[in-house]
Amino acid sequence: MDPEKPAVLFTEEVIRRRVAEMARRISSDYAGVEDLLLVGILRGCFIFLADLSRLLTVPRSVDFIAVSSYGRVTTSTGAVRLIMDLRTEISGKHVLVVDDIVDTGYTLQYLINALKARGPASLKTCVLLRKRERLKTNCEIDYLGFDIPDLWVVGYGLDYANRYRTLPYVGSVKT
Ligand code: IMP
Ligand code: MG
Repeated sequence: MDPEKPAVLFTEEVIRRRVAEMARRISSDYAGVEDLLLVGILRGCFIFLADLSRLLTVPRSVDFIAVSSYGRVTTSTGAVRLIMDLRTEISGKHVLVVDDIVDTGYTLQYLINALKARGPASLKTCVLLRKRERLKTNCEIDYLGFDIPDLWVVGYGLDYANRYRTLPYVGSVKT
């Protein structure tokens, strides 16, 4: 692939401000909760979760889960597979699933169902980006950063063929 420079969609500053707003909302909604567990979906969540979690003012812990879609290049087929499970028992806990981006929604929907079956006290979702016109499920997002058009976006944790994850901004590339 040629080393194309992504076209900026959200600058570092715009992301920083939005993540801070989301952290304030979440902190206020979970005020008084003693056992909030942030569940990050690897690998795309890692930078968003790092920034968001450090801005929260409520007690929280962090765990990770990894999933992959069968046969995906840049489109989800709908088949999702758990490749690394949580180390934390979530029954009775307040769980907030943190993801980088919702495209079709199959991944998040699968995880919501799988985690709900374990009996958490509550389960909500926090997602930085959503491609609204691509959604194929009605998976609920409780905290959303931005709606974006149908573009392939990279940076701030997101990749294209494992590249661009550590770009400080979110940009789009041609696929
Ligand atoms: P979904 O199951 O179709 O919602 O796909 C969700 C997952 O696909 C995300 O968590 C990302 O890992 C990946 N993904 C979808 N769209 C993009 C994108 O534009 N850039 C980078 N990763 C993406
Ligand atoms: Mg992801």
